[in-house]
Amino acid sequence: METHSLIQKYNIPGPRYTSYPTVPYWDESSFTAKAWESTFIKSFKESNVQEGISIYIHLPFCEQLCTFCGCHKRITKRHEVETPYLQSVLKEWRLYCNLLPARPIIKELHLGGGTPTFFSPENLKQLIEGIFKLASRAETYEYSFEGHPNNTTKAHLQTLYDLGFRRVSYGVQDYNLTVQKAINRIQPFENVKKVTEWAREIGYTSVSHDIIFGLPFQSTNAVKETILKTKELLPDRIAFYSYAHVPWIKGNGQRGFNENDLPKPTVKREQYELGKALLEEMGYIEIGMDHFALKSDSMYQAMQNHKLHRNFMGYTASKTQLMIGLGTSSISDSWYGFAQNEKRVEKYQAMVEEGILPVVKGHILNQEDLVIRKHILNLMCQLKTNWQQQKDYFEKLPESLQLLDEMISDGLICITGKELEITPAGRAFVRNACMAFDWRLQRNKPDTKLFSMTI
Ligand SMILES: C[S@@+](CC[C@H](N)C(=O)[O-])C[C@H]1O[C@@H](n2cnc3c(N)ncnc32)[C@H](O)[C@@H]1O
Ligand code: SF4
Repeated sequence: METHSLIQKYNIPGPRYTSYPTVPYWDESSFTAKAWESTFIKSFKESNVQEGISIYIHLPFCEQLCTFCGCHKRITKRHEVETPYLQSVLKEWRLYCNLLPARPIIKELHLGGGTPTFFSPENLKQLIEGIFKLASRAETYEYSFEGHPNNTTKAHLQTLYDLGFRRVSYGVQDYNLTVQKAINRIQPFENVKKVTEWAREIGYTSVSHDIIFGLPFQSTNAVKETILKTKELLPDRIAFYSYAHVPWIKGNGQRGFNENDLPKPTVKREQYELGKALLEEMGYIEIGMDHFALKSDSMYQAMQNHKLHRNFMGYTASKTQLMIGLGTSSISDSWYGFAQNEKRVEKYQAMVEEGILPVVKGHILNQEDLVIRKHILNLMCQLKTNWQQQKDYFEKLPESLQLLDEMISDGLICITGKELEITPAGRAFVRNACMAFDWRLQRNKPDTKLFSMTI
């Protein structure tokens, strides 16, 4: 089938599978605070010593709204919010530690946002030191943060480096001025160059840039120019995201443009293909979905050693069974369950003050979820999965089989015996393949908009 027709057929709303079940399909009736506590204690006991745990800390504040952004954020210029917020995060951490039977060993630590570099270096230092008052470092660890190129200072980089951080990712998006104006994010190349060079001088071993295609008013040439500029800095990793247009999500602030201002699906696909070809010419290897890395980067090595993992932080270079998410809107993952924190800053702080985990919803996985979760992770991380050892779940759902059959005849996947593999032509359709495995979605198709388009 021609690319054009494939796009028409497969460009449908679909999850990004940072979890299974996906958040809209969580079964709230399976979830209680007590059930959640017992799953993370079980997970902690099973994994803390063997592999360590991950911590994600959400730092929601940004000084200015970028109108493409789908993240949970609070726009403010009032930096007085920093200290009380960090105090709440540390109180939440203490609540978790009080429930744990031993001292946690932290393998992965990620500061995400919002904008972590909204906070002063001194405040970030106090936050990290506060976390480690109650925890130890794993023997090998990967600590990382998201920096905004417009406000990351040398002091931020040095302070976090001294605390063990070796990875930083910068939001670049696109260098074209028309696009930058449309997304309300004026960010000259010089800013990105400066913060990339500082990180390297200080000793960071992995610098990553986020680039987006499919943004309002973005031409294919703009994507090309952005990637060619990126070549001058050669970051170790590149997240090459498809713009997720989800304006119906409450409070996400996607505005100032409409669907007609976005590149058409075929153009968006052309942008991805061109970007991928250019990145590969520059020496990057495509990792899972959306990501590219140089061979020297830990993410490439993780893929080679079959260690690549995916969770709410996106792809990570090592698997931990337990991830505790701290801060507003953060999601924790105990492997057996998920829990999401309150999104509103004031409410979150009030709950922590009362001494209760600020969790407002979640899901406890059943046996079927656990099997499907494994398949979806395999597909997202290794582009293949097999069901030799397991009950043949897929034959139970004719719609899933039909979807897979169509993908086979379109050359996007192949099935040999009980192994399914995504073909090179099918790489851009990996979300579609996962959807065939997603029983909760297949059984209960949404009648309102829940997900961004797959292409
Ligand atoms: C929290 S932001 C990065 C840190 C910092 N706030 C900044 O903007 O530089 C994380 C990344 O998510 C990506 N992102 C946000 N909204 C998106 C959307 N609607 N579609 C695709 N990617 C998006 C952007 O590439 C962004 O750099
Ligand atoms: S892209 Fe970054 S700086 Fe912009 S609103 Fe989103 S989180 Fe804030």
